[in-house]
Order: sequence, then C-alpha cells, then structure tokens
Amino acid sequence: MSEHDKKRETDAHTGTETTGHEWDGIKELDTPLPRWWLYIFYACCAWAVVYWIFMPAWPALPGLAGETDHTRGLRNHSERANVAMALDALDAQRADGFAALAGSSITEIENDPELLGFVLAAGEAVYGDNCATCHGVGAQGFVGYPNLNDDVWLWGGSYDDIRTTLTVGIRSEHPDTRFSQMPAYGRDQLLSRAEIGDVTDYVLSLSGTSADVGAIQRGATVFEVQCASCHMADGTGDRAQGAPNLTDRDWLYGGSREQVMATIHRGPYGVMPAWESRLDEATIDALAAYVFLLGGGEDATAGPTGQ
Ligand code: HEC
Ligand code: HEC
Repeated sequence: MSEHDKKRETDAHTGTETTGHEWDGIKELDTPLPRWWLYIFYACCAWAVVYWIFMPAWPALPGLAGETDHTRGLRNHSERANVAMALDALDAQRADGFAALAGSSITEIENDPELLGFVLAAGEAVYGDNCATCHGVGAQGFVGYPNLNDDVWLWGGSYDDIRTTLTVGIRSEHPDTRFSQMPAYGRDQLLSRAEIGDVTDYVLSLSGTSADVGAIQRGATVFEVQCASCHMADGTGDRAQGAPNLTDRDWLYGGSREQVMATIHRGPYGVMPAWESRLDEATIDALAAYVFLLGGGEDATAGPTGQ
C-alpha cells in the first residue's frame, strides 16, 4: 500500500476530503465536480449517441455506405446529395432560359426583359469565373488584353465573330484556332533600328501623334513593303488576320513611341484560350451574347442559333 492511500483525510479549512497526495506539505483536495457540470456532460454523451444513430458519424469502408466513405445514419443525410440536388434544380431552372435564348437575335434579347436578365446573369457569372482574370472585372482590359466594352475589335464584333473567338480561341491549342503572326522585326533583324524608328513615326502619324516629317516619309516606304499586307495600305487593319487598326488612338500594346517601337521590335503574340472543351454550347451562346451586350457588338439582328 502506498503512502498517500493511508493519508485520506478531511481538510480542516474547506471541509473537503483530500486525495491523499501531498507535496512539500501542500495537500491535494478531492473536490467533487459541480452538479451542473456533470449534468451537461451526461447530456452531451446522450446527445452524441442520438447523433451517431441518426446522422453521418462513423468512417466506413468504401462500398459499405453507398458512394460515401462514412455511415449515413437513420436520416440518410448527405451534404453531397443535397448539393447534387441543388445543382440539378439550378440546371432545370436554367434550361428554360437557354432554350429561350436559342434562335433569338440580339435585338429580341434586348427587348425581352426576362431573356435579357437571364443573359446578363448567366453571362456575368461565367465571365467572372473564366474571363475576368485576363480581361479585367469590368472587361476594361489591360495592356495586351483587349477591352471588351468598346467597339474596337481585332477579330470582329458580330455575334458570330465573338462566338467563334470564344469557341476556338486566338493562337490557342485548338486545331481551328484563329491565327496570325506578326514578325519580330527587331529581334529577328528584319529591319534595322533606324527603320523601326522611322516606321514607328509613320504608324504614330496615322493617328496624328507624330510630326517628324522626314521619319514619316522614310517610314511610309517601310510600311508599304513590310506592313501593308496585314495592316492594309491605309493602316486600318484586317480582321481576317486579327491585325489591329493603326489609325485610331486605341492601342492594345500601348501608344507611346517606346511602346510602339517595342511592339514592332518583338512582334506581339497575344494568346486567348479556346473555350469549346471547357464550357458547353449553351453557356458559350449566353456568354457571346453577354460580351456583345457589354457595349461594342456589331449587327444586333443576329444571335444564338442554338446549334
Ligand atoms: C489567359 C488570358 C485570357 C482569358 C482567360 C480570356 N481571354 Fe479573351 N483574350 C485574351 C487575349 C490575350 C486576347 C487578344 C488576342 C490577340 O491579341 O489577338 C483575347 C481576345 C478576346 C476577344 C477578341 C476581342 C477582339 O477584339 O476581337 C474576345 C471576344 C475575348 N477575348 C473574350 C473572352 C471571354 C468571354 C473570356 C472568358 C471565357 C476570355 N476572353 C478569357 C486573353 C484571355
Ligand atoms: C503577318 C501580319 C502582320 C504584319 C506583316 C505586320 N503586322 Fe503588326 N500586327 C499584326 C497582328 C496580328 C497584330 C496583333 C497581334 C496581337 O494581338 O498579339 C499586330 C499588332 C501591331 C501593333 C500593335 C497595335 C496596338 O494596338 O497596340 C503595331 C504597332 C503593329 N502591329 C505595327 C506593325 C508594323 C509597323 C509592321 C511592319 C513593320 C507590322 N505591324 C507588320 C500583324 C502583322
């Protein structure tokens, strides 16, 4: 028998029994747990048992509890099943909107508040998830990433043009991707530094932002030989090749002299992913209509055909 077992006694000060443990004259009291605490503890134990019976609680070997890896409980409760049901309900709700969208022109969509609301809501959600990282939350664009609110288009702003761009991408990995490639005139030494400087002044003169007459004249010749095949003789660009209009003051890669020179030096190569395999057809329809409606769409008599 150990020593402290012999020494259980009642503490004179508190009237509580001691455990018999004593260190350097300090005795440990055996204070009972408060009743209220005990009752709560017992209630928790009882609640746990009830919970185990009715709710998912225990890990189970795969296969024993259906598609989950835990017991389902008598209530057969499953958050996963709830989410699946909610998604199905959402799909059913959207199916009506997508069905109405097919075969409507942009004008018809704009004149039907319900359809318009559907396109804006569906488009905004898909845009936010997939496009905002590159084109900006407000679709205002960044250097190298076009603004989608304006009526300046590289590859075309009709509903079909926009839809094609979304489907196949630009310089993407899609086999039918929109493609073209401006040469890197400086890096690949196709033009001298002086020639690039001259043609830069010529390009800037097209939008009235250079007045160096000598450089502009020399640059005009370079432009005619090197650039007109894509940007056209008058510099207005070619949508079939995604070659921007150089006569406006809207610049994808920046309009300062240094920026334009750098662009001609390195040959820009903007890449836009293809969405065909990532978004379903109906979603691409709604998204193309959404982008059209952001501002600069061209020819509102066309629209989703629902192919
Ligand atoms: C990884 C970045 C990136 C993402 C994500 C992206 N884009 Fe783009 N997008 C670009 C770039 C870069 C271009 C310009 C390509 C070029 O220089 O020709 C472009 C071009 C476009 C164009 C053509 C504009 C024109 O003037 O012809 C449209 C329309 C467009 N994007 C819409 C979208 C939509 C809608 C989404 C979301 C589904 C999206 N983009 C997602 C990078 C991206
Ligand atoms: C093979 C066709 C092709 C040729 C030739 C070509 N370009 Fe381009 N150029 C393009 C394309 C395509 C783009 C847009 C690339 C992108 O979006 O990434 C572009 C973009 C530009 C830009 C950027 C415009 C902006 O909005 O920021 C400038 C400036 C430019 N080209 C000038 C020239 C000059 C100067 C020459 C001749 C020395 C030239 N290009 C020759 C196809 C061409």
